[in-house]
Amino acid sequence: MKKFAIFCVALLCAAVMTAAEAAAPTAAAKGASPQQAGAQAPTTTEGGTAMAPIEPKILVVYFSRTGNTEKVGQALATELKADSVKLNEQGTDWEGVWGYLKAGKAAWKGESTSIEKLKKEPKDYDLVVVGTPIWAWDLTPAVRSFLTVYKDDLKKVAFFATEAGSGHEKAFKNMETLAGKAPVATAFWLEKEVKDPEKMREKVAPFVAEIQKMVSASDL
Ligand SMILES: Cc1cc2nc3c(=O)[nH]c(=O)nc-3n(C[C@H](O)[C@H](O)[C@H](O)COP(=O)(O)O)c2cc1C
Repeated sequence: MKKFAIFCVALLCAAVMTAAEAAAPTAAAKGASPQQAGAQAPTTTEGGTAMAPIEPKILVVYFSRTGNTEKVGQALATELKADSVKLNEQGTDWEGVWGYLKAGKAAWKGESTSIEKLKKEPKDYDLVVVGTPIWAWDLTPAVRSFLTVYKDDLKKVAFFATEAGSGHEKAFKNMETLAGKAPVATAFWLEKEVKDPEKMREKVAPFVAEIQKMVSASDL
């Protein structure tokens, strides 16, 4: 009888422990992913060691005739820890008064130009930030060519422009159509803002923050 009582108590204890385990299974025991288990940022593990979150790969691509768009593009690349490439045209001469007039006419007519092969492949990047000067209230022929040629290689895009006073709205709309996708963020700088480093940085910071928010590691 005593032996039977001990057996019953042991059986009861085993039942209680099994029930408790079933009520609170670990994520690992369920085979859940870190995201399903409520982890904040995805991390990779190698041999059980936690590694840094995956950083999005960003490329800044721009055209620049007189350096304004290049200045902004370089500041963005630094802040975004991105690669950058400047578009080089073949067979065009936009120098001098005659060149200025030809450039305005080409942009006005929505023409493209021949661009040299890029040193970076846009398809290798999670996001491409595309920058253009505004010509005749529109994007430049070089940037038009880039978007036309690389459209299918662009996973996500953001746009920026530099201008004397106006035109970025139409340019961004046309860039969206050419890229076949809406930008995750847009920003523009007036010439006078580019010439003042402090003013330029004031606009760089929110644009960079918006891009980083829109391509957070959890997105990749
Ligand atoms: C042919 C041509 C047309 C331009 N048309 C406009 C325009 O429509 N609206 C505007 O605000 N600025 C216009 N600009 C001024 C440029 O957008 C501005 O100077 C820009 O910052 C130049 O960039 P970059 O130095 O990178 O070449 C024009 C400039 C050129 C050369």
